Amino acid sequence: MTQTTQSKPLALITGASTGIGATYADRLAHRGYDLILVARDAAKMENLAAQLSGKTGVNVRVFPADLTRATSLASVEQLIRDTPAISLLVNNAGSVLPGKFTDADADAIDELIRLNVTSLARLSRVALDGLQTHKNGAIINIASVLALAPEISGPVYAASKAFVLTFTQSLQVELADRGVYFQAVLPAATRTDIWEKGGKNIDEVPGVMEVGELVDAALAGFDQKEAVTIPPLQDDNKWLALDGARKALLPEFLQSHAAPRYR
Ligand SMILES: NC(=O)c1ccc[n+]([C@@H]2O[C@H](COP(=O)([O-])OP(=O)(O)OC[C@H]3O[C@@H](n4cnc5c(N)ncnc54)[C@H](OP(=O)(O)O)[C@@H]3O)[C@@H](O)[C@H]2O)c1
Repeated sequence: MTQTTQSKPLALITGASTGIGATYADRLAHRGYDLILVARDAAKMENLAAQLSGKTGVNVRVFPADLTRATSLASVEQLIRDTPAISLLVNNAGSVLPGKFTDADADAIDELIRLNVTSLARLSRVALDGLQTHKNGAIINIASVLALAPEISGPVYAASKAFVLTFTQSLQVELADRGVYFQAVLPAATRTDIWEKGGKNIDEVPGVMEVGELVDAALAGFDQKEAVTIPPLQDDNKWLALDGARKALLPEFLQSHAAPRYR
């Protein structure tokens, strides 16, 4: 495969108009990345782009798109196909479903899945063709600790983030020999607008992390090439034990007969 030449590395960040995505934009610009920012709010992204290119000298392109709309998502996919210089995709755009599952409108459920799940998977698929041509191609997928905690979240959001975690772990195995690094980032409560959008008061939530600290920690995990980064988890051995217990189950599944308790 041909090696793409580009003076600065180029990252595409979804959900880059605010919150975690905008903070990734800031940190990556300071690391010398040129950027493509994707979200719906063009004015916010233009403002951020002007600030970042003024401060750091990097090139920042704004690409407004609603990732829940098929035509809009297709335009981002085409942009990625047309821009093989992209060496880093940050799949960060995400939203929540306010209220209880039984109060939710079926279309709102579908929309959340299209944003948190479908767009992330489709953009990863399209980006991988180009990423494999880079020496340091990478995808960062923003999941959530709620992937591991269905008890404390709405079912659709928690399941969408479990998808992101499982999807990333499976890509790590399937594409282990392709030279692309995949990182799943699992933030816990982080101070951004997502709380208000979900109808929750963040001031009532204990243990909220500031967004700058979250992204700096996630990028420290990125630099260490961690597979799964959980910034608030103080004792990493607890994650390793959980993942180890899961992996220990795998050979147990290969049985020709049902367990005695089902016979
Ligand atoms: N904050 C937390 O406590 C927390 C914890 C765990 C995981 N996360 C995850 O972190 C990611 C970022 O969330 P955040 O906390 O930074 O929330 P946020 O401040 O609400 O930002 C969400 C971003 O996604 C974009 N977005 C929303 N709907 C979109 C759509 N239909 N099409 C394109 N872009 C869209 C928003 O931009 P526009 O409105 O301009 O489109 C915005 O840039 C999400 O995946 C979230 O699930 C957050």
